[in-house]
Amino acid sequence: MSTHIGAKSGDIAETILLPGDPLRAKYIADTYLEDVVCYNEVRGMLGFTGTYQGHRISVQGSGMGIPSFAIYANELISEYGVKNLIRVGTCGGMQEHVRVRDVVLAQAACTDSSMNKHVFGGYDFSPIATFSLLKEAYDRATAKGMNIHVGNVFSSDSFYRDDRSVTEKLMKHGVLGVEMETTALYTIAAKFGVNALTILTVSDHLLTGEETSAEERQKTFNDMMVVALETATT
Ligand code: HPA
Repeated sequence: MSTHIGAKSGDIAETILLPGDPLRAKYIADTYLEDVVCYNEVRGMLGFTGTYQGHRISVQGSGMGIPSFAIYANELISEYGVKNLIRVGTCGGMQEHVRVRDVVLAQAACTDSSMNKHVFGGYDFSPIATFSLLKEAYDRATAKGMNIHVGNVFSSDSFYRDDRSVTEKLMKHGVLGVEMETTALYTIAAKFGVNALTILTVSDHLLTGEETSAEERQKTFNDMMVVALETATT
């Protein structure tokens, strides 16, 4: 096992889906995968391996925020040989044309986290999605007629913000939505030379204050999951 994952070598597939919530990982495994085995219960951060239409795939809870996400991404890649990582989550909408229930593909991620400032000695690194995964997800989602947006997201260290001045500036620079992990995913994937993509549903909106009900979130989550699973197993 690695420091935070109780799996044996070979227990985890090369391709993995990463929801923040471990119970979402269980829901995905129970709903979409066959021949499921639970490989991790350490800290309640559930991880499962199964098959989707004959393809071996894993799904692992990542927790919320960059520090938690980075622990799982690092260990999955360096200790278990994971090669394709797809985060499936939610974001707060930051543009008027990005509506609640729409889907956002994160082409790149900016952040207020200091993680990369330390790593790159004060220089800015641009964390970007793997183009082949981005294109596949875009093609799959548009073929299904989904409302999809591709662009920059904001990976914030804070869910609760007192000061809106920075988010307003990011909105003016076209950032589509706010979430809390993608900068870490794309940076760590780049470091190890593996593939990464974040797919998000818009659960709430910073401009309109609109929110989705639990039922609506489940429906859009299911639409997003089919795109994520098809992209992951192409
Ligand atoms: N902030 C950060 N993460 C989020 C939000 C938000 O407003 N909505 C959904 N995930």
